[in-house]
Amino acid sequence: MTACPFSAASRQAVREALSHPHLGVRPTDEPVPMALIGTPAQSIFASLVRMNDGVRQSELKLAIEAALDWHGDDEIRQTTVDVAQRLAGSLTTAEQLTWFNYALPVCVLAELLGIAHRDRATLVDEVLDFVRCIAPGGSAEQMAAGAVAAGKLQLRMQQADGRLFEQLCQQCGDRSLAIANAIGLLFQACEGTAGLIGKTLLLANQRHQSAEELILAVLQQSPPIHTTRRFAVEDTWLDGKPLAKGQSVLVHLKTPEESFAFGYGAHRCPGERWARIIALAAISVLNIKPEWLSHFRWRVSQNARVPEFYSAKEHADDRGDF
Ligand code: HEM
Repeated sequence: MTACPFSAASRQAVREALSHPHLGVRPTDEPVPMALIGTPAQSIFASLVRMNDGVRQSELKLAIEAALDWHGDDEIRQTTVDVAQRLAGSLTTAEQLTWFNYALPVCVLAELLGIAHRDRATLVDEVLDFVRCIAPGGSAEQMAAGAVAAGKLQLRMQQADGRLFEQLCQQCGDRSLAIANAIGLLFQACEGTAGLIGKTLLLANQRHQSAEELILAVLQQSPPIHTTRRFAVEDTWLDGKPLAKGQSVLVHLKTPEESFAFGYGAHRCPGERWARIIALAAISVLNIKPEWLSHFRWRVSQNARVPEFYSAKEHADDRGDF
């Protein structure tokens, strides 16, 4: 793999990269990151729809879409409102708002997957640790913590009994594949939805528009997942330029002509409807104190833009810009 990534940043180049027959989601010589080999995260990573291509990916994708489609808008909305009211009940600081934004999508999915009710806070921490070891750029410590979290999440999922999990098992036809991809749903939903809620709250501070319009504006102007990666599986061409086997491609999901907030092509996000419903319900339930939004920094991440709010007294000089 060469060090310098090829960059796709125009509408045409992004569409080409995300539907290219010779670009894959993983380098051919490292389908699972070396740091995860021999850990509980190895088999989960190898089973994720997001980390596979070809027939395996398309079959899994159909199964996941069918399981997600099985839940109607009203059920997702009502579950989100219930979970959000529970989580927001104790919300009194900017730091707790940050945690709420990460926790809400995880807890809504956990509710419908039927993950046991005890210690939701620990569950959210485990998902955040797992996200760190799957997302690009994790340190050795983060990879190790993520691998431990993967084992705990696997144990939790073995006890799950919700209808979303039953559907996943039925559609995937294989319980361990369903468990891995249920964990995948928790991790895929977490950062993107937290970023969408956080950015919408910031925009609401600047513009008087409906929550629907604000959510749309965020998705069109500053998508919370702003880049993704692909790898050349053989020598090929992209955007009229040669690409060597193994070379990585950094794909910008916001181009001057179009926003690809939920991706494009075979790996396009199957959770868009869920993300929009969860974000909208969150905005309707939250009762924000304006000062909670006045200080934030961006989550340390190569591909997600999530505002993390904090109290002014923590670092008076560290103010993010939207
Ligand atoms: C605002 C919130 C969200 C954003 C911005 C977002 C964005 C994305 C993007 C850009 C991709 C494509 C990645 C790529 O092609 O490399 C993706 C894939 C995916 N997303 Fe989302 N997502 C969000 C919420 C969700 C939710 C709530 C779920 C689950 C209910 C979900 C499940 C998935 C899955 C399973 C994939 C992998 C699909 C595949 O590889 O075929 N996402 N998401």
